[in-house]
Amino acid sequence: MTPKTPSESVTVMTDMVLPGETNPLNNLFGGELLARMDRAASITARRHSRRVCVTASVNHVAFNNAIPLGSVVTVEAKVSRAFRTSMEIFLDVWIEDRESGNRLKANEGIYTFVAVDEMGKPVEIPQITPETELEKQRYEAALRRKQLSLVLSGKMKPADATELKALFAGS
Ligand SMILES: CC(C)(COP(=O)(O)OP(=O)(O)OC[C@H]1O[C@@H](n2cnc3c(N)ncnc32)[C@H](O)[C@@H]1OP(=O)(O)O)[C@@H](O)C(=O)NCCC(=O)NCCS
Repeated sequence: MTPKTPSESVTVMTDMVLPGETNPLNNLFGGELLARMDRAASITARRHSRRVCVTASVNHVAFNNAIPLGSVVTVEAKVSRAFRTSMEIFLDVWIEDRESGNRLKANEGIYTFVAVDEMGKPVEIPQITPETELEKQRYEAALRRKQLSLVLSGKMKPADATELKALFAGS
């Protein structure tokens, strides 16, 4: 399979925060943001693999900044690394200042998707070739994150997580 670049499958979704989507503090409800991230990641996974893709795990989400009612929110989803049948999707969430138009990084998340056939069986996907410096950094770290996610879900023995262990041994 021919490798692809992250820019070939990037998804950028921009939408407003409406009253029904907020918590009692009038900020975007966390679950609503997770759903938007899941949708954007799902589109990216599908564009990369040209297969039906399912969310296998949500590895990390950082709610660093509250997103007020009326905000213009942009979710950008990119494949940071493809493995055999799974891929890590990195999500950056931005909000736009109403007056200046400047973008502020509000949140980020890392999801894992698996490409499946009609029977729900995992299928092979193209590899990814990172291009920018950030894409290369995220690509490098993705294997450790995959191992951590597998260890936490009981699918890998900590002793087998070689790259993850090396990170701690080096600190
Ligand atoms: C995700 C799913 C397809 C994995 O099926 P499986 O039988 O466990 O298949 P495998 O063990 O071969 O795993 C497939 C890939 O997913 C990866 N994977 C599985 N669980 C993972 C986890 N928790 N974190 C990271 N990667 C994971 C495996 O490492 C493997 O990756 P690779 O082939 O790229 O090396 C299956 O569990 C499933 O269908 N889950 C439900 C998905 C769903 O409905 N999501 C919507 C949310 S409700």
